[in-house]
Amino acid sequence: MVYPIVMYGDPVLRKKAKEIVKGEMDVKAFAQDMFETMEAASGIGLAAPQIGKSIRFFVVDASALEEQPELKDFKKVFINPTILKEEGNEWDFEEGCLSIPNIREDVWRKEKLRIHYFDEEWVEHEEEFDGMKARIIQHEYDHIEGKLFIDYLTPLKKKMLKGKLTDISKGDVDTEYRILAPLRK
Ligand code: NI
Repeated sequence: MVYPIVMYGDPVLRKKAKEIVKGEMDVKAFAQDMFETMEAASGIGLAAPQIGKSIRFFVVDASALEEQPELKDFKKVFINPTILKEEGNEWDFEEGCLSIPNIREDVWRKEKLRIHYFDEEWVEHEEEFDGMKARIIQHEYDHIEGKLFIDYLTPLKKKMLKGKLTDISKGDVDTEYRILAPLRK
């Protein structure tokens, strides 16, 4: 099932999401919905709050980024993740977000991380990721902490984006996917 994507301004994007208790929901079916929704929006990552569910769950699939062959198999489900450590030099990259369409800005992030999580079979993992994989995880992990990539911008940059962000909250934005805008009348 493809869900509409929640737009900037919805309080669900600002909540710290809750841990999932094993057995309380069908995580495999939910993962399927998340992948379908992400694919319909041509995203490479999607966190549960972006479809209105405040739970610690996100998916990534960067296998379509052909110019980066190391991402070929990077399709994963992260349940109840915890970033244990981030290290290395900070590097910048232009990020975007399905909840903040048509805005892309440089964000600085550390190059490496170690993360503990469960997959959709409830198998426990502790793994290290770096480069683009780490960045995608950091961006999605921020979502379940109630954080957005625009939070990293300077006050001036944020001020310059204010009008666009208001338009997004009103649903006054062009997307090729279905959206749910908090201020739409
Ligand atoms: Ni995002």
